[in-house]
Amino acid sequence: VDENAELYQQARSLGREDVIAVTGVVQKRPDEMINPKLPTGEIEITAQSLELLNKAKTTPFEIEDHVEALEDLKLQYRYLDLRRPEMQKSMVTRHALYQIVRQYLNENKFLEIETPYLIKSTPEGARDYLVPSRVNKGRFYALPQSPQTYKQLLMISGFDRYYQIVRCFRDEDLRAERQPEFTQIDLEMSFVDEEDVYSVVEGLMACIVKELLGKDLRLPLLRLSYHEAMARFGTDKPDLRFGLEISDITELAKKCSFRVFADTANSGGRVAGLCIEDGSQFSRKRIDQLTDLVKTYGGKGLATAKVGESGWEGGIAKFFKPEEMTEITQAMSATPGSILLFVADKPEVTLTILGALRLFLGRELQLIDEDAAALLWVVDFPLLEFSEEEQRHVSRHHPFTSPKEEDIELLESDPERVKAKAYDLVFNGYEVAGGSIRIHNSNLQKKIFDILQISREEAEHKFGFLLEALQYGAPPHGGIAFGFDRLAMIIAGKSSIRDVIAFPKTTRALSLMDGSPTQVDEKQLEELGLCLIKNKKL
Ligand code: AMO
Ligand code: AMP
Repeated sequence: VDENAELYQQARSLGREDVIAVTGVVQKRPDEMINPKLPTGEIEITAQSLELLNKAKTTPFEIEDHVEALEDLKLQYRYLDLRRPEMQKSMVTRHALYQIVRQYLNENKFLEIETPYLIKSTPEGARDYLVPSRVNKGRFYALPQSPQTYKQLLMISGFDRYYQIVRCFRDEDLRAERQPEFTQIDLEMSFVDEEDVYSVVEGLMACIVKELLGKDLRLPLLRLSYHEAMARFGTDKPDLRFGLEISDITELAKKCSFRVFADTANSGGRVAGLCIEDGSQFSRKRIDQLTDLVKTYGGKGLATAKVGESGWEGGIAKFFKPEEMTEITQAMSATPGSILLFVADKPEVTLTILGALRLFLGRELQLIDEDAAALLWVVDFPLLEFSEEEQRHVSRHHPFTSPKEEDIELLESDPERVKAKAYDLVFNGYEVAGGSIRIHNSNLQKKIFDILQISREEAEHKFGFLLEALQYGAPPHGGIAFGFDRLAMIIAGKSSIRDVIAFPKTTRALSLMDGSPTQVDEKQLEELGLCLIKNKKL
């Protein structure tokens, strides 16, 4: 210090985040002074000179992990937020993920091909982001919701294994695990069936889990039918890191003396419940809170009872005969001390409510094994579902998904029973990938459009190019797309995809950093042949 008082003073006047250049001698610290907690804890620089390259303003929040700053402030100053070690680590994980994916797919003879961003609308079920054409006024491109039609065309072109790490754009209502623009690992193969897709994807997941989480994935992965996933977990993306499965007691409920259950069960509804082994923590107040929660999920109520040594106690116990209690207790494998939570409603409603309650309790009671990597396939999805809003059948996946051969004959007579050659990959309760075997026959494709009540003219207008292409020797083909951000989020151990995207948008689709979307000049609108609707609140 004494030797270099001036330099010392200079160093002391530096602020956080100032950018400096130091000239000096790098030396090893004496052994007893090594600080293993610091990345540079083994060395010391004996400075000879110090130059201030750039003075930093005081940052709006401290550049440290676990800062208390509001999310919006962090997004406004995203470039500072990204300096935090935690965020740097996320970006490194994301980078590693790109490399593993590319390496694996390259080794498996997939060809990386880019497809355009300015395209005709694709049918993934969200709204399109539109781009007006200046050269062709009055016309619009859509940004791809996915490269679905293009990858199918590539199969017809003879590229039998395609992939792309690609941006997709969807104008939809956003939630924590959704962004208006997000990245997919998109892939497609010719001459394949479901098993081929499963094996490619399982190989890829095994590499990712091994290299980034240091775990061996047990293959083949578990497969659950959509029906079974709904029945046991009340969702098509079950989190298998914990148990707490749903028990169906509809049959027993039909003849029980509790009217709410019996009436529901006898009129096509479903009665089902969860059994929590340690019921002691469920006070009256707690049960009331859970009942309110069930109501926010759209339920009518939550029926509860505690299992005692002889029969049930509290809640709905008074409505049941002893033998009815015993039967239900046994059916739910409940033991004394546990609490039973029941919902009675339309089948779909009962299951989704119990599914949501299962997740809520799994988190609250810390039943989730945070260390586990629980992957599974959900298969045998229905091809169609009835949309109350549109009063017609709509595709559950997209209209190019092939029905199972054995169900094709049901297409007209009983469309809701037709199963699809579609599959989702679920990872710790998130849908990380979804895909299908496609229709490669233009007549079957037309038939599906008919069932979806897409008129011949509309089909021709929207997908004429694909229908035409299918007639020039289209090979059987199928594929899948991963939500890359969701996958990166899980691997990085984050709870929001925003944490693994360098410049994400808010749930209102805003970029707080640059303020987009913004208004544009009259002149720009004019060039595009557009004018905004005036006198209307925009
Ligand atoms: P799908 O629409 O299921 O299929 O999308 C594939 C995967 O992309 C992820 N994903 C999203 N991630 C972040 N933000 C969003 N808004 C968002 N939307 C979807 C999900 C989902 O599993 N073309 C088909 C794939 C195919 O059939 O091959 C498709 O896009 O993780
Ligand atoms: P009630 O006979 O309507 O007073 O209901 C008795 C208990 O059953 C209350 O705890 C309600 O919350 C519950 N309950 C009412 N309707 C349902 C239902 N559809 N499913 C589950 N529990 C219900």
